[in-house]
Amino acid sequence: MKIQGTPWRTVWLNADGLVEVIDQRFLPHELKTATLPDVVTFERAIREMWIRGAPLIGVVAAYGLAVAMRHDASDAALLAAQRTLLATRPTAVNLKWGLARMVDDLLPRAPSEREQAAFALAAHMADEDVAINHQLGLHGLALIRELARQKPGQRINILTHCNAGWLATVDWGTATSAIYQAFNEGIDVHVWVDETRPRNQGAALTAWELGQHGVPHTLIVDNAGGHLMQHGQVDLCIVGTDRVTAQGDVCNKIGTYLKALAAFDNGVPFYVAMPSPTLDLTVQDGVTEIPIEDRDGAEISHMSGWHADGVVTTVRICPATTPTHTNPGFDVTPARLVTGLITERGLCAANAQAIGAMFGSNTV
Ligand code: MRU
Repeated sequence: MKIQGTPWRTVWLNADGLVEVIDQRFLPHELKTATLPDVVTFERAIREMWIRGAPLIGVVAAYGLAVAMRHDASDAALLAAQRTLLATRPTAVNLKWGLARMVDDLLPRAPSEREQAAFALAAHMADEDVAINHQLGLHGLALIRELARQKPGQRINILTHCNAGWLATVDWGTATSAIYQAFNEGIDVHVWVDETRPRNQGAALTAWELGQHGVPHTLIVDNAGGHLMQHGQVDLCIVGTDRVTAQGDVCNKIGTYLKALAAFDNGVPFYVAMPSPTLDLTVQDGVTEIPIEDRDGAEISHMSGWHADGVVTTVRICPATTPTHTNPGFDVTPARLVTGLITERGLCAANAQAIGAMFGSNTV
């Protein structure tokens, strides 16, 4: 997608052969990039969320193994780098998937071949992510076209949560792919952007990237979605996902479940954009089986923002003595609340039978 008219991806090999990424910690205030020269830096970049979003984490981790092979192409180094990167974030299954795909390809090869093969496969996975997201967006576009047909001359209002945009992938985004494609073909779309406390990925990232592309959008507090749905102001919800189980339960950014409940109660279609690498057929019950990342309580007790003079400040928003017990980064929306999965293979019902029929061979 474009930033001020110039096409960008979130990760690329620069002229020096180094892996470079958009450093998302500084958005929306500053567009900065970071180079990732070694596995230690990759580990920090994923753990500290310089890059984030399930599909992008998977691809960046793959590049992390390629960089590891550049320094030491032994079996021990490959497996150590896999262990290090796997430990960074527990919930998005794309991390496990990306690392396993690389290791499965590289281990049988002679060490002398591994660096070149690893960079080639990581680049292929990046391109594949772009193609998958474009393709699933076409299936989502069909849904938006149908809504536009039912509401001639009226705006289509879509609610999304967190950032499942191009910044969370290599390009296009998952939830946003259909939105960008609808906008590009002239459909009058407008996006309700959940702020997505505590880290505000909606306010900081989704709002920024939609604005860069010119897509009409409005920021709302996380608690407003149900009210908007009750008043007929949401035609469709599309969210991303960090892991979908074999029975169709959807793990995504904390707060997604509440949006799904509100959508269900108000008869608003609730779709989940799921690229196939985000499907984990080894897991059935999302609520009990998916590991949920527990993050620092300071994300709850503090907020950061930008002063007009360009200085970023962090402030406490509760009494200094108020404890923050736990800060789960994700929740699970049971399959019964999901209208459907938007995948690169087509729309898929969120149940074991439909998922098995469409993705039976995809295992992590
Ligand atoms: O903690 P984050 O910012 O990595 O969480 C991101 C999300 O939950 C996204 O909605 C999800 O990864 C889908 S991204 C296309």
